[in-house]
Amino acid sequence: MVIASRRHIALIGFMGCGKTTVGRLLAQELGRGFLDTDRLVETHVGQPIPVIFAGQGEQAFRDYESEALRHATSRAPAVISTGGGLVTREENWALLQDTAISVWLKVPFDVIVQRLQGSLDRPLLQGDTGFERTRALYTQREPLYQRADMWIDADLAPHRVAQAIMERLRGGFQGR
Ligand code: S3P
Repeated sequence: MVIASRRHIALIGFMGCGKTTVGRLLAQELGRGFLDTDRLVETHVGQPIPVIFAGQGEQAFRDYESEALRHATSRAPAVISTGGGLVTREENWALLQDTAISVWLKVPFDVIVQRLQGSLDRPLLQGDTGFERTRALYTQREPLYQRADMWIDADLAPHRVAQAIMERLRGGFQGR
């Protein structure tokens, strides 16, 4: 696992695709640290994400998020779980490309909707138009997730998703 040993493994994908759960399992398997950009932002700001969005707006959150990614990628190779919108900034891609193997956890939209029903901690989904906005975001984001180095079908139990990533890495991963 030459490539994997030098680089971070960065999990990307839409809200509810399992980045945090899979990331923890993968970190255990690889004997690496686990970092989550959402948690890094919350710890740095001292507020939960919905409060940051409500008080400072999305752009401020995105700035914190990019800073969290810079911090995470400057450390020893880890498994990094990223927020669903991190892929919207080109500067984040530059960092991912320099330091990480990016892995897209690919989950169909209808499964995402089932998983996200009742999610109160994701400000972008709140309100009467939450469903339409979620669909629009999914459509908008899909081409960005497709830029990932590795695509993994993630409509499976988390341990099977982690296992699938391990297999691809063990198989001398060379690209999608
Ligand atoms: C967001 C996804 C969330 C969090 C924030 C914004 C997005 O992370 O970063 O609510 O823009 O898709 P998860 O993907 O971990 O839910």
